Amino acid sequence: MTKPATPPLLVADSIAKSFGPTKALTQASMTVAPGEIVAVMGPSGSGKSTLLHCLAGIIAPDAGMVSYAGQGLAQLSDTRRSALRRTDFGFVFQFGQLVPELTCLENVALPLRLGGGRRRDAEARATEWLARLEVGDIAGKRPGEVSGGQGQRVAVSRALVTSPKAVFADEPTGALDSLAGEHVMRLLTDTARETGAAVVLVTHEPRVAAYADREVVVRDGRTKAVEFA
Ligand SMILES: Nc1ncnc2c1ncn2[C@@H]1O[C@H](COP(=O)(O)OP(=O)(O)O)[C@@H](O)[C@H]1O
Ligand SMILES: [Mg+2]
Repeated sequence: MTKPATPPLLVADSIAKSFGPTKALTQASMTVAPGEIVAVMGPSGSGKSTLLHCLAGIIAPDAGMVSYAGQGLAQLSDTRRSALRRTDFGFVFQFGQLVPELTCLENVALPLRLGGGRRRDAEARATEWLARLEVGDIAGKRPGEVSGGQGQRVAVSRALVTSPKAVFADEPTGALDSLAGEHVMRLLTDTARETGAAVVLVTHEPRVAAYADREVVVRDGRTKAVEFA
């Protein structure tokens, strides 16, 4: 059966990336359709984070190409690429990405403020997103005063508050116990599906990958698609 052709949102086509003598990626290819949740799996050191950073335009591959909405990222100026990351992408990392001096509310409002939004509007939207991620009660606390799971739900709120087309999550539950991790994953994937955001989810935990629509495995810098039964 042929599927209707949806133009992909993100494409990595045969990309390679080395850091000095280390070949982090040798031959990696993957696509992400709009609204699709794709898990990138593989052992530690296999190249997962490098692939995510290339897809998100944070680093440039040495060979091959990455495109977003039909546009090659290498063809954009640094300024346009940074602007794209701010307007169209959201990020969730393993830990340490919240600004410790700001309250949780101010952390979530920050991307909107950086985009030129007024404080009152930004904080109103941030408040809604914190409630959606079930952390409305800690809005006034600083990241150092909340649990790991709460902090990651604040980070997810911050990633989604700008209504991104794609969210990049690198081991978002890697520092959490399994119960807190499940909670973060359920809320991340539910809210992404509600808003239509695509998610590139790097993980080495099969339980986390179960939240995805599809899986891509990276081994020794190469990708391999996995068909779900
Ligand atoms: N900035 C860097 N400088 C040097 N080596 C790096 C850098 N980033 C990644 N690497 C190396 O590239 C390989 C792949 O790393 P990475 O993409 O982080 O793997 P994973 O996320 O699957 O654990 C590893 O050998 C790692 O040490
Ligand atoms: Mg990694």
